[in-house]
Amino acid sequence: MSDYGFSTLSVHAGASPDPATGARATPIYQTTSYVFDSADHAAALFNLQTFGNIYTRIGNPTQAVLEERMAALEGGTAALAVASGHAAQMIIAHALMETGDDFVAARQLYGGSVNQFAHSFKKFGWTVHWADATDPESFRKALTPKTKAIFIESIANPGGIITDIRAVAGIAREAGIPLIVDNTLATPYLIRPFEHGADVVVHSMTKFLGGHGNSIGGVIIDGGSFNWSASRKFPTLSEPCASYHGMRLHETFGNMAFAIACRVLGLRDLGPAISPFNAFMILTGIETLPLRMARHCDNALKVAKWLKEHAAVDWVSYAGLADDPNYNRHRTYCPKGAGAVFTFGVKGGYDAGIALVDRVKLFSHLANVGDTRSLIIHPASTTHRQLSPEQLKAAGAGPEVVRLSIGIEDADDIIADLDQALRD
Ligand SMILES: Cc1ncc(COP(=O)(O)O)c(C=O)c1O
Repeated sequence: MSDYGFSTLSVHAGASPDPATGARATPIYQTTSYVFDSADHAAALFNLQTFGNIYTRIGNPTQAVLEERMAALEGGTAALAVASGHAAQMIIAHALMETGDDFVAARQLYGGSVNQFAHSFKKFGWTVHWADATDPESFRKALTPKTKAIFIESIANPGGIITDIRAVAGIAREAGIPLIVDNTLATPYLIRPFEHGADVVVHSMTKFLGGHGNSIGGVIIDGGSFNWSASRKFPTLSEPCASYHGMRLHETFGNMAFAIACRVLGLRDLGPAISPFNAFMILTGIETLPLRMARHCDNALKVAKWLKEHAAVDWVSYAGLADDPNYNRHRTYCPKGAGAVFTFGVKGGYDAGIALVDRVKLFSHLANVGDTRSLIIHPASTTHRQLSPEQLKAAGAGPEVVRLSIGIEDADDIIADLDQALRD
């Protein structure tokens, strides 16, 4: 299967006709549990001596097809699908860190990740140190002896910064820690982070992967390249595991150990399983990923170019524009397109931003990205409204900033809607 091209893998990887019924589409296996063949079979499953289904909190056949497809699309060894992108991030952190450990993350992340890392993770005794996504050396400066990982977004939400993955991966490698890349806004259609030195890839499948704004999900993909036993920094992977009779997960499962640790410890014990129905919806969405992403990117470039010339617009931040500071990294990392999420500044500040989101007709005013539909939000009056003016500016969410997620409608209609909404 791995010899097939990206579009073929998007449709077929992991799936085959259902052996029981011949169903061609992957069935929704809506069951909590699975009958064991025998007492010996049950024991082997619980001892991790054989792979198979036990209970849908830990795995499910619909979910398994989705996991195999995502591992194939990213070029990883194995994957784990979970209830949301945030659940995926929590499970990764749980596998990597002990109480008192820390990690370094780019400051330019989706705001929900900033909150999760700064506040909720702190309650587990995991500390985040921030670095600047536009300055790889800042990641090195933030390292401490307790640092267990570096976390970046390939294309940062919402600023559209394209991170120099290879430079940051080099710093992680020298420090003997994994690089985790949130590839949500790029999807493997635009960027495959393992090819640039990432060790683990994570997605909110809620966005472009599912693609239709109807299902929440997350996925962790194991690159299979990291040596978890080279140091004693990662005891969950390298040391005897108390809940599996002293089994060492890395020694036993080799290049799939990280994905397996996330499933048999993180998902088993923390519990954020994806529903079979959501796995089915996202799997169906992925079948058209290459077609949708090409259209999203074409439309986004047309809209960004048009906005740039508009009298009511101050600035446009889109890596696909030739004079954008991220343009060269876009050509290096994602020459097929610069994604479909970007920000621009409307003349007239806060009031003009509010007026715009109230006037659009085709765009939906809501807090999401990566839908077939075009989406718009004014961060200063919604997602970032608790912040002070200084914090708003630092977060790239000043009063004039509007974020767009460009859909797959006709570009002319998207532009016409913005045009009528930008008029006085
Ligand atoms: C880049 C990025 N990562 C992670 C998340 C969190 O994903 P979820 O909403 O599926 O938990 C989001 C959500 O917007 C996101 O945009």
